[in-house]
Amino acid sequence: MKKWRLDFRIWHWIHAVVVLGLLGTVFLRKTFLSWRSNSELLTQKLSEINLEVTAEQAKMLAKAIRAPMWEWHIILGYALAALLVWRIILFFTQSGKHNYQNLGKETFHKKMVKLSYIGIYVILLFMAVSGLIIHFYETLGLTKEAAHDIKEIHELVFNAVLIFTPLHIIGVLLAEQRDEKGIISDMVNGGEEKKV
Ligand code: HEM
Ligand code: HEM
Repeated sequence: MKKWRLDFRIWHWIHAVVVLGLLGTVFLRKTFLSWRSNSELLTQKLSEINLEVTAEQAKMLAKAIRAPMWEWHIILGYALAALLVWRIILFFTQSGKHNYQNLGKETFHKKMVKLSYIGIYVILLFMAVSGLIIHFYETLGLTKEAAHDIKEIHELVFNAVLIFTPLHIIGVLLAEQRDEKGIISDMVNGGEEKKV
């Protein structure tokens, strides 16, 4: 029997792309497409061609430039929500629960790794629910202030995703080099379930 069934592998790789994509949109929002730095740039460049704009107008322009990119945060956000529902369904398959069985026999390190997977699932679930609430706050009858408060928490919890993702990638690369040869290719070709 394969260690990772095909549907689990497809889930893992689509999920990886979606989470990296979400982090990518946040990176762009906070760097190249930051309204703060771009509104200053617009004010300066427009004044060089004798067009004066107020700070409010420059902010509006900078946000308009950012908007098409940020739409991807929402699109990928919907994808993440759907992927988490898919992951819950996968928990009913052998591949989906395989990492969380016989935990008693695992080393301390392995227990921590598996605990970090459960932790990231809970965190991602929070990100999806809070993200959807901020996006649909009017439909849900929430005030702008309440949506803003939820956004602050969404933004704070984002740091956990930012920490987990590189740690996970470095972790599996190190495991591949050391005592878990084939750990990455197993997630590609399915690997073989170890006989107990
Ligand atoms: C792009 C580089 C990535 C590689 C090479 C990679 C590789 C792997 C491998 C080899 C495993 C199995 C590890 C084990 O059995 O303990 C795994 C599991 C996992 N990966 Fe990744 N991964 C990548 C990106 C991501 C990203 C961006 C996420 C999103 C947060 C992610 C989330 C997970 C989760 C949650 C599991 C646990 C699966 C389970 O429930 O059993 N991975 N990954
Ligand atoms: C891995 C998952 C996610 C991460 C890491 C993430 C990260 C972030 C961060 C850091 C911000 C604050 C940006 C800023 O103000 O500078 C933000 C805002 C936001 N996110 Fe997410 N997010 C995730 C998932 C989602 C999901 C699933 C949705 C739902 C569709 C969503 C919808 C939103 C919305 C509506 C905002 C507010 C944007 C605004 O104020 O204009 N996010 N997200």
